[in-house]
Amino acid sequence: MAGDAPTRLVKGAVAEGEVRALHRDGDARGVVGGHAARVRGGVPGDRGAFRVLHAGRNAVWVAPEALSEPSPDRVVPPCPVVDRCGGCPWQMVALPAQRAARRALLADALGDLEVGELRDTVTFDDALAYRTRALMMARRVKRRLVFGFFEPRTDELVPVDACAVQHPTLNTALARARAVLDESGVTTWRSAARAGTLRAVAGRLDPDTGTVLLTIVVTRDDPRFDDIGHALVADPRIAGVALCVNTAPGGQVARGPTRHLAGAKRLHLDIDGVDILCGPMSFVQTQHAAASALVRIARELVPERVTHLVDLYAGIGVFGLALCGRAERVTLVEENADAVRDAEATIARGNGFDRVRIVAGDAAQVADGVLDGAPGTCVLLDPPRAGVAEPVLAAIARAAPETILYVSCHPTSFARDARELAGAGYRCDVLVPVEMFPHTPHLEVVARFVRA
Ligand SMILES: C[S@@+](CC[C@H](N)C(=O)[O-])C[C@H]1O[C@@H](n2cnc3c(N)ncnc32)[C@H](O)[C@@H]1O
Repeated sequence: MAGDAPTRLVKGAVAEGEVRALHRDGDARGVVGGHAARVRGGVPGDRGAFRVLHAGRNAVWVAPEALSEPSPDRVVPPCPVVDRCGGCPWQMVALPAQRAARRALLADALGDLEVGELRDTVTFDDALAYRTRALMMARRVKRRLVFGFFEPRTDELVPVDACAVQHPTLNTALARARAVLDESGVTTWRSAARAGTLRAVAGRLDPDTGTVLLTIVVTRDDPRFDDIGHALVADPRIAGVALCVNTAPGGQVARGPTRHLAGAKRLHLDIDGVDILCGPMSFVQTQHAAASALVRIARELVPERVTHLVDLYAGIGVFGLALCGRAERVTLVEENADAVRDAEATIARGNGFDRVRIVAGDAAQVADGVLDGAPGTCVLLDPPRAGVAEPVLAAIARAAPETILYVSCHPTSFARDARELAGAGYRCDVLVPVEMFPHTPHLEVVARFVRA
């Protein structure tokens, strides 16, 4: 048991131990055979026998083998491939314990940062079938085309027919894409050394109409994809299909020049009452219900009257457009050309968006020019996981806007930036955690900063 003399751990060995905590990387932490161990699929409180998956110089990975005392927070995971697929590492943890662990990780990230009002986490009814955006990798296995996800830290595909956390309509549309692509005989890409065409298929769902926009990600274009696109839009659940050509050897899959194949070019997403156009390649939140909740929180926290609303990581313009009615001027800054075109298309449809200006470019380059120091300015920040770039924080400090609303999907980078803002004279007066990604360690937060 934990506390006894350490047992030598080698791959495949079984040793006694216990699980102590959940960690932000998805694996739990415990003590097994007297060694600190990363426990895949462990729940704090589990005790018993653990099998060694990997024993490296710096870390030991184990998984429960035979638990003599399973944790009271252990539940049967709904997904049959949870042990191999890295997508939902906390599915075996009861929801209340998951929520407590995410709060603990947030508290840890915030450290001594002063927060006026830290609210309860906003949660949603569905902890399954919640994803309205998906990306599934493709591979031929024994001539059959399968879709799935990569095992963590490998390029081994875990076949998944219908992902438990993806919306059923998204699963149905992806299954249809798999069938049509399989029939076409398209080869699949595995590595730069082994040529092949199909890499992945992405889908995004409009839950109001129950229709999906699909993107087929390939290494090379081919005229037969036009026929495939037309065959797919014959299914009423598939609104449109695009082709993304990614010739890069690895890295981010859904990136590269895109061509429309068939059907609709964009979805009309109703995000908390705002009709916003979204094409196949622009950022959209993983969970539609949470996207609307973020807008509702922003409506509550942004002042009723704003002179200049500056949305510095604007995407398709969700926050800037939703809050446009309370601002004299709105500036959207976005570097992704597809998202800029989507925002332009939404604005061109009227709806009172005539006071909105789009600045296409890197926020780090344009922030100084855009932030003109007008009294009553509100800055919106919804950056990628890496957080806000240093030159942007410096530009904000110089312009000294009255209010900053920061939406973050990564509490660690948020806490780092919040300290910078505190150093520039801002106080975080409200912080609202939002449960965007059940069964994972990830937590979205919305925070308001006002000048101290
Ligand atoms: C988390 S998304 C948020 C988008 C939008 N607020 C929404 O909710 O849909 C971050 C956005 O910032 C954009 N972005 C990333 N780095 C950027 C930069 N340096 N300058 C401007 N935009 C950037 C991305 O293309 C993406 O659209």
